[in-house]
Amino acid sequence: MKIVLASKNTHKLEELQAILGAQGVEVILEAQAGVDVDVEETGTTFEENSLLKARAVMEASGLPAIADDSGLCVDALQGAPGVYSARYGGEGLDDVGRYTLLLNNMRGQLDRRAKFVSVITCCFPNGDVLTARGECPGTLAYAPKGEGGFGYDPIFYLPAFKKTFAQMTAQEKNTVSHRGRALAAFGEKLAAYLAAHNG
Ligand code: IMP
Repeated sequence: MKIVLASKNTHKLEELQAILGAQGVEVILEAQAGVDVDVEETGTTFEENSLLKARAVMEASGLPAIADDSGLCVDALQGAPGVYSARYGGEGLDDVGRYTLLLNNMRGQLDRRAKFVSVITCCFPNGDVLTARGECPGTLAYAPKGEGGFGYDPIFYLPAFKKTFAQMTAQEKNTVSHRGRALAAFGEKLAAYLAAHNG
């Protein structure tokens, strides 16, 4: 079965394919399905934004489409940057600029608790929708560490591993990450859905 990933982020494609590939699902990028959809993420929740993205790509491609909306929620900042993680600090910043800004905004703050959240939505051409949510609690480091991953990975620290996400292998990250957890839950829902619909 082919599912179009409503994203241009190849890191997400790799993480998704690693988990859903085991279920016989082939995840392809929008470009491979011949569509190029720019969806405005106007929602105020991860659920709303992932639905907006998945639905737009499903409608454009005519294929089942899956979207992940994710972000980093910091307790001391009342959940910010949250759904605005990709746009934190404005359009001009890159990943390093965004996590540096976040570290600056957290200077002197002793409550370092934070969590990553991922909501996966899959829209089928017949109107069916599957959704799954995953969360990964951790803390904000005081300085970036590690070379792997993307986004805020270098400053997201997991005390149980004594590592940031950026110091983990992709496999290790998948076992605990918000997206790994959401995908595992999604995988179970998809298997049940396919079993029910394929007789
Ligand atoms: P989205 O593409 O709108 O879901 O943007 C989510 C943003 O949250 C990304 O651009 C990253 O900045 C951040 N993010 C989400 N998941 C991760 C992750 O696993 N590691 C690091 N940053 C992440």
